[in-house]
Order: sequence, then C-alpha cells, then structure tokens
Amino acid sequence: MQVVIFDNAEQVAAHAADWVADLVANKPSPVLGLATGSTPISLYKKLVEKHKNDELSFKSVSSFNLDEYHNIDPSNPQSYRSFMNDNLFDHVDIDKANTHLPTCTDTQNPREQGLKYEAAIKAAGGIDLQILGIGANGHIGFNEPTSSLVSKTRIKTLTEQTIKDNSRLFNPDEYQPDTAMTMGIGTIMESRYVLLMATGENKADAVNDMITGALSAMCPASALQMHENAVVILDKAAASKLKDQGYYQWADKQNAKLNAQYGFYHNY
Ligand code: PGA
Repeated sequence: MQVVIFDNAEQVAAHAADWVADLVANKPSPVLGLATGSTPISLYKKLVEKHKNDELSFKSVSSFNLDEYHNIDPSNPQSYRSFMNDNLFDHVDIDKANTHLPTCTDTQNPREQGLKYEAAIKAAGGIDLQILGIGANGHIGFNEPTSSLVSKTRIKTLTEQTIKDNSRLFNPDEYQPDTAMTMGIGTIMESRYVLLMATGENKADAVNDMITGALSAMCPASALQMHENAVVILDKAAASKLKDQGYYQWADKQNAKLNAQYGFYHNY
C-alpha cells in the first residue's frame, strides 16, 4: 500500500485529478470506478476545471459507481445518479450511456441486478482506476464492517453509524434509505488500481486501522492491504494517527526520484 500525505485536502484532490487525467491520457477506453460522498466532490471540481481548460476529455471514458440507494428514483435529488450528474457528468463531455450505477428497484431482484452489474464491469474490460473514500467505521462503498472480504455487488443494510453520518445530507422530513446496492469488496479488489482519498480528523482512526491494523472484516478498507496497486492519499489530519508518517514522506520522495529517472508508470 502506498501512502501519500499532503498538507491539505486541496492537494489531495489535485493529486487524484492528476491520476485520473494520466489514466485518460494513457488508455484508449479507460474505465473509471467512481465514488460519492463529500470527499470526492473536490476531485470532481478539479476534473471539471481540467475539462473546461481543454486539458481533459471524457469522450472515451466509461464509469461504474460504487453504490446507489436501493429503490430510489434516479431523478430523486438524493440519488447517487443525481449526485454524479450535479458534480461531474453534467459538466463534462462524458456519454451518459457509458455511466453506470448499481441500481435496483422494488420490482427487481437484487441478486440478479448485482450479477448484471458485475457482468457489465467485465464487459467494459474491468475497472482501471477505482476512486474510494472511507467511512469513519472503515467501510468502502457501502461494505459495512463484517462484510465479506470477497463480496461482489449486492444489497446491503446500512449501519446505524452510516445512516447517522449521512443524515446531514437529508432534510428532517425527507425519507433516508437504509439499504443500498454496493460493489463488493471483491469487486473493488479486481480494479487494476485503487486510489483512496481521506481527509479530516474524523477519518484518522479508520485510516490507521486500514493501514496498520489487522486484515479484518471489521475494517473493510483493510482488505486493500491485499491489493497490488492501492494508493492512499491523505491530508495531515486524516494521517494524524499514523505512527510512521516520516517513513511515508521519505518513501514518497524516493518514489518521486524513481519516477523522474524511469518515468511515471501505471500498468493499466
Ligand atoms: P465522505 O464518505 O466522503 O462523505 O466522508 C466517505 C464514505 O463513507 O465512503
């Protein structure tokens, strides 16, 4: 796991945007795995900026989002489809037919929908770069603690903590779903690269558990310890509980030297 610590959240977003731009520049039909939540909003802002400055086109890009609430109308402003339209898709030249979220209505079978989503990811060639956030409880996507570390796309019941964490986004009289379709941890592990962004002190414990804790279903993000190409980008606050910050900073300098000498290489 590569850990990179930046001074602030702005730099985390800029670094993530450079990764996305690098993928799009180097792969003919790039497949992005996308995330919702407050953390990637600043990444999407940077991507829109790059697009407006003619530095980045999404014409060849297809995307798969991590999760979507169960049985929510896409036009509902709380749906993750609306979130993605508002924060990214409506502002760039991506073909929306190539953007996917794991949807499931009341009349659809969640198991079948999960299998279809997995098949669609495979048919697109697999995810090249999966963007992730992390929950304060260590979840990735909506894979809550105790999720199978080899799970695939399926319906999950959210924990009380996640429902509470997300309640800030709902009006008091608004219905807040408590189930969602989510890529599994196994799905995420099949991505060629994983880029996990975490900012803010409320993520510091989860970040520490993910990087230095035991591989455990109690911290779903710890599964990334088993990923060949997992990169974790943090601001200082999210990194504040890590013991070996000096090592990560030193390793990052060494990596910069290697990149300067041999080129920045991603095996997409
Ligand atoms: P956040 O959520 O970016 O809103 O903190 C991250 C997550 O729950 O995965």
